[in-house]
Amino acid sequence: MEASREGAPGVRLAARIKGLAGSEIRERMKDLAKREIIHLGGGLPDPAFFPVEPIARACAAIFADPTAARTALQYAPSEGHPPLREWLAGYMASLGVPCTPANILITNGSQQGLDLIAKLLIDPGAPVMIELPSFIGALRAFDVMEPRYVGLSADLTATGIRERPRFAYLGPDFRNPTGTSLTLAERHALLDLSDALAMPLVEDGCYEKLRYDGEDLPSLLALDCARKGGIEQSRLLYTGTFSKTLAPSLRVGWIAAASPLIARLVLLKQAADLATSALNQMIALALADGILDSAVAQVRGVYRGRRDAMLAALADHMPAGVQWTEPEGGLYIWLTLPEGMDGGELARRALIEHGVATISGAAFYPIEARPNTLRLSFSMVPEEAAREAVRRLGLLVEDMMGVPAHG
Ligand SMILES: Cc1ncc(COP(=O)(O)O)c(C=O)c1O
Repeated sequence: MEASREGAPGVRLAARIKGLAGSEIRERMKDLAKREIIHLGGGLPDPAFFPVEPIARACAAIFADPTAARTALQYAPSEGHPPLREWLAGYMASLGVPCTPANILITNGSQQGLDLIAKLLIDPGAPVMIELPSFIGALRAFDVMEPRYVGLSADLTATGIRERPRFAYLGPDFRNPTGTSLTLAERHALLDLSDALAMPLVEDGCYEKLRYDGEDLPSLLALDCARKGGIEQSRLLYTGTFSKTLAPSLRVGWIAAASPLIARLVLLKQAADLATSALNQMIALALADGILDSAVAQVRGVYRGRRDAMLAALADHMPAGVQWTEPEGGLYIWLTLPEGMDGGELARRALIEHGVATISGAAFYPIEARPNTLRLSFSMVPEEAAREAVRRLGLLVEDMMGVPAHG
């Protein structure tokens, strides 16, 4: 038996596990304990702004009421805690997606939503269209189902597409990893493409609420509902989450889609974990009904300041030839280094020699990798630390480019 196929002596692993790599981000997260590292790596919300008190009050209220306490500790329905499904249906309607609870499945974070959608739609070898670069967590969820990746073409047309992809996966707002967003015209072009190919779109709404400048744009699902007359006529699947607005450890996310798709996803959810924690869903509901808007307003203010500090530091410290995105929201800035430079090498040296954790861009490309890229996350670093981290990165880039340091 092949050694690489063995998980432990005598334990043969399924073929699909062979290509699965550990996440560089998760590895870097282990460094969090080390105080001296400045973390521009993982896309974590800053725990200093978690709504600790409101969560404590919500828990106390649940456990003070014996009926609520029993519900909280029992298996929830696989579809989700009914009042939260109801709330989410209203929330999606407020975003231009009129729907009912039958259009909502509550998941363990939106990551589980992506996993269940992969199981629903991907057969081994089937084409799946992705933006390049794309969110690593989505790629890992898709990888397990062994798709064949096809890059979304820059002109968003079907030119050159010979086989209809099972779906295209997109982050329309401040996407992970680049921080960039789709314009309204691009959103319409994608819906045209989806219609031309009869191809579902999987819309990742993770960062939708974290806008710092400019006007909110309608989601792809909202635009499609307007085009088609309702969610039941749409072939889009939308994933949402409370992770970046309340707290990731609640693990409460959701999928919104046409009810026949939700009914099938419920079967996959049952096979995966039976249900999301009722307690966590009840806490999420109490906060969604209460402090969600003020929590969002607070983190928006904090992250806006951090983004501005990092953009200013990049302008001050990066040598000519380095480019970066200027996101209107989200948690990420994407650096493009001069052609030929290795973002992986930069990330390694930045961590080891300069105590700055970043993520090399190559990890976000399952195909057509562009190694001269790097993702910086500004969510975890106060403004002074961001400036210092970027100063160190600038010196390192100059060193790697062979240009004399300008201090
Ligand atoms: C684009 C995107 N989608 C989904 C997720 C998963 O988030 P969660 O499972 O916590 O909802 C993340 C997490 O960082 C993300 O960046």
